[in-house]
This record gives sequence, structure tokens and C-alpha cells, in this order.
Amino acid sequence: MTSVEPEARPPEQRQIRVEPVRTSEELELVYAIRSEVFDREQHLTTWVRDYPEDTPSLNVLAWIDGEAVGTGRVSLWGDEAQIAWVAVRKPYRGQGVGRAIMEHLIRWAQEHGARVVTLNAQTHALEFYRKLGFRPVGRPFSMAHIEHQLMERNLRSPVEGGAA
Ligand code: COA
Repeated sequence: MTSVEPEARPPEQRQIRVEPVRTSEELELVYAIRSEVFDREQHLTTWVRDYPEDTPSLNVLAWIDGEAVGTGRVSLWGDEAQIAWVAVRKPYRGQGVGRAIMEHLIRWAQEHGARVVTLNAQTHALEFYRKLGFRPVGRPFSMAHIEHQLMERNLRSPVEGGAA
């Protein structure tokens, strides 16, 4: 579990907890958040469930006051990890939830021996990922009418600016 201590944040903010998904009910919450953000909000895709070949993967949920407010997934192939499906429900953005999710996923990748983590960032979120130590690779491309950028973070070298 990753916990962001409330003392480090403005007093009006509540504690954010990030936990691995352990039950089928929690996995349904993951799919519900993916649907809310990637289907109904962004019209990116209507298919938000994992394919069987997506394992080994870790899905996480971020919680505030008992409510599931965000999610993300990391998958591992050998020493390469890929992060996907990072989403925070709209009312909870800008409070550090996305960062807490990413830090948990990156830590899991590190602990499982990953050398590098990649992701396909929507270009509006480039700065979010830059702040977490990711760098663009190659050119932006269009996927489902949304511009994306492949990004990667090398886990075996220190990150400029001291990102997690
Ligand atoms: N543009 C620039 N900076 C951004 C940003 C954006 N769109 N989103 C977050 N940041 C910055 C924050 O200002 C913050 O900076 P700080 O550490 O200097 O204060 C840092 O990134 C962490 O932000 P945080 O509050 O943890 O992000 P969030 O909880 O709002 O989550 C997303 C960010 C992108 C996950 C969220 O906006 C989201 O779910 N968007 C819709 C789905 C999506 O696009 N997912 C990404 C798919 S690639």
C-alpha cells in the first residue's frame, strides 16, 4: 500500500491510499473508472477490460475516504515494464492522486526487476509524466483520434529533479 501523508499536503486535502486490486469486485471498480474516463469522458475506447494475455500485471485503485477515485496498471515482460490505463476521476484531479498511482506502479516495476518503464502518454499529460521522470521517445502519433507520445523512464539511472 502507498500512502501519501496528509501533513505533506494542504490541510483541506484528505489522505490518498493506493492499493493493489485483490478481488473481482475491486477489478470491476477499475473497469468502472476506465469506462468513466476513457469511454464516457474521452471517447477513446468502449473496451475497457483486460485481455487474458495482459498478465503478469498489477492493477491498483486509489482511494479517498473509502471511495475509489483512480486506477492504473503496470505489466511486465522480462525486464521491461509498461504502464497503461492511468486515470483519475475528474473531481479528484489536481490533488496528487495520479502521482500516487504512478509512484506505486513504478515501485512495483522496480521491485520486480524492471530495467525500463514505457507508456503511451496522451500528449496533454506529457508534463504529468515528465515530472515523474519519463522522457519522450520518437514522434507523437494518433490513436483513436487522440495524440499520443511514447515515453520511457530508465529505472537503473537517477532521475533529474529527484522524481520517485
Ligand atoms: N498537464 C500538466 N501538468 C499536469 C497535468 C496536466 N494535464 N496533470 C497533472 N499535472 C501535474 C500536476 O500539476 C502536478 O504537478 P506538481 O507535482 O508540480 O504539483 C503533477 O503533475 C501530479 O499531478 P496529480 O494531481 O497527481 O495528477 P492527477 O491526479 O490530476 O492525474 C491524470 C493526472 C493525467 C492521470 C488525470 O488528469 C487524468 O486521469 N486524466 C484523464 C485520463 C488521462 O488522460 N490519462 C492519461 C492517459 S495517458
